[in-house]
Amino acid sequence: MSPPGHGPVVVGIETSCDDTGVAVLGFDGRVRSSLLSSQAKDHALFGGVVPELASRKHQEAIIPLLRAALAEAGVEAPSSQVGLVAVTTGPGLMGSLIVGFMTARGLSQAWGCPLVGVNHLEGHIFANRVAHEGLETPFLCLIVSGGHTEVILVEGWGDYTLLGRTRDDAAGECYDKVAKMLGLPYPGGPEVDRLAASGDPDSFDLPVPLGTTGRVEFSFSGLKTAVLWTVNRIKSEKRSLPLADICASFQKAAVEALLGKMVLASRLTGVGRVCLSGGVSANSALRKAFRDRFGDNVFIPPLELCTDNASMIAAAGLFNFLRSGPSGPDLSPDPSASLTDKIT
Ligand code: KG4
Ligand code: ZN
Repeated sequence: MSPPGHGPVVVGIETSCDDTGVAVLGFDGRVRSSLLSSQAKDHALFGGVVPELASRKHQEAIIPLLRAALAEAGVEAPSSQVGLVAVTTGPGLMGSLIVGFMTARGLSQAWGCPLVGVNHLEGHIFANRVAHEGLETPFLCLIVSGGHTEVILVEGWGDYTLLGRTRDDAAGECYDKVAKMLGLPYPGGPEVDRLAASGDPDSFDLPVPLGTTGRVEFSFSGLKTAVLWTVNRIKSEKRSLPLADICASFQKAAVEALLGKMVLASRLTGVGRVCLSGGVSANSALRKAFRDRFGDNVFIPPLELCTDNASMIAAAGLFNFLRSGPSGPDLSPDPSASLTDKIT
């Protein structure tokens, strides 16, 4: 049930990077529609996300996507049916965030409904609430994507403590850069994952980053460099690159680093429940390793909720709105917004 005077659905908008997302949720938290327009093919030509292009593609995609999401959810009269607009305000690329933000603000004014800004990382945490009804706190959440590798203690919904993060590259960024070295298309994570399945993970001895520091922290630049040296050595010997073996060896080290630090975080906090989120949590080896280690205590969203999507933004926005009301008139996009702003 929505609060009195509010329409029964929430519209969520996500444009922080290179995926345009629009979702419609009921005030009961159920997803009525969730659509995504991916720009991966546009950026693949350049081997990575081109911010100016991303912004332009969001502009092209957002209104048709909004119309389709409303139609799929059966929302014919948004000004009476939409009770809240939720939008990602950061972190992300400024030119991309602005497109979603300006659209959301315009819609909230046109429809006469409140607007709430959502931290993208809080959205990733809420992907697990969308995916796993009744998920209880406390839990540890590993957000592992193209821009983030962070471990957050979620003591209650909206109550976050950052336990550790990467010192340099994000895990997804490392996957994408390794893929680029191997001549694989962008985004490289899924390609590396696919090739690794047929490779031997023990063929190259690559370092597990910060494996023994005793702190919840990550570093992926050293592992990336180790792959580069391996690739250069093989090329200098005029041998063809054993792609599957390199991918499998790299993936083994990356997964070991991520799993090892989550085991450590669990030991240090005494919290046994673990959630994954972010694009890299689509990785098959990571999912298997976490399931093997944490069993029934690990929660992993389905693939469409792992990568960027607007359902998670609508869900986080709904929670914050019901708890603290709408965002104020000074709401604006913040490319370097931190989840620590929200730490209570
Ligand atoms: O969460 P996301 O969609 O966007 C943000 O970065 O916020 O994550 C995208 C990242 C990319 O680096 C992509 O290569 C990686 O997630 N990724 C994967 C897999 N699927 C996506 N990495 C490893 N294995 C995968 N199967
Ligand atoms: Zn993301």
